[in-house]
Amino acid sequence: MNNPDRAQNNVLRGKWKLLERLVEGNEDTLPDTAEADKIQRKREYEAFNRKLGELKFGKYAFFLNYGYVQNDNPSFAKVTPRESDFDANSRRLVYEVIGDCPLDDLDVVDVSCGRGAVSIAVQGHFRPKSYLGIDLSSEAIAFCRGHRQMPNFQFEEGDAESLQLANESRDVVINIESSHNYPRIGKFFHECFRVLRPGGWFLYTDLLAPSAFDRHTQLLQAIGFTKTRDADITSNVLLACDETAERRMAVYTDSAERSYMADFLAAPGSETYHAMEQGLLCYRLFTFRKITHNS
Ligand SMILES: C[S@@+](CC[C@H](N)C(=O)[O-])C[C@H]1O[C@@H](n2cnc3c(N)ncnc32)[C@H](O)[C@@H]1O
Repeated sequence: MNNPDRAQNNVLRGKWKLLERLVEGNEDTLPDTAEADKIQRKREYEAFNRKLGELKFGKYAFFLNYGYVQNDNPSFAKVTPRESDFDANSRRLVYEVIGDCPLDDLDVVDVSCGRGAVSIAVQGHFRPKSYLGIDLSSEAIAFCRGHRQMPNFQFEEGDAESLQLANESRDVVINIESSHNYPRIGKFFHECFRVLRPGGWFLYTDLLAPSAFDRHTQLLQAIGFTKTRDADITSNVLLACDETAERRMAVYTDSAERSYMADFLAAPGSETYHAMEQGLLCYRLFTFRKITHNS
């Protein structure tokens, strides 16, 4: 792997594989390790979802993202969540990602839908023609199917790198805080382009090393996407972690579990949080359009 950030980021290695994945970027996993990586990821998320299922509040845990808190950065969200929502910051991140994409009457696919964050956030505010949530975790999909959804909302187990969707069958692809999990991210980007109709929207956000975003952007543009929005929202996400992570951490009492979860939730003091503070990791939000001469 030829990654210019590697030496600089040695300091971050060792404790948890996720952090390693984030700082190194993930588009150049060797083919023979890619499938094993994916199986491992699936195992982690199945276990995580089962754990949430055992907790008292688990049935309300729809949102798995770090969240977003408004500061001086320009905001594009058209919806403001109620402050009383305990998951208001995570909802806010979803509305920022959607930004000025109309969604109404459009066919939307949410790749790595997790426990239904986007499906919950859009209800009552947007009326997509159809919504399909796809996730690698069967536990997550079972959870999504188990709570009340709009009739035109569906959930399927599936892999971001190989979407079981027809060419040019969707208007919007949403991908929130998940792409760092994909061993062959280039395959995912090609799939996004393939399933989008001309004029379609790819609404994308994640936490990665700055150099990984540069490579991803180049790749997306080489595939044919046009970038229409690119925002560094690390400071907004850190503010959300300040507010939210400690509260989420309170449910974990076992010390090993607390250490694992602190990084997972980017709790203040965790390595993930420090890496964001120091600029080794950056949370970026993009809109890409599939603009063709016919669209
Ligand atoms: C941090 S969660 C984010 C979930 C959701 N987008 C949200 O905002 O709450 C990352 C999700 O990516 C999913 N995932 C990981 N690898 C995947 C893959 N190859 N294909 C589809 N989903 C995947 C995991 O199962 C998990 O639900």
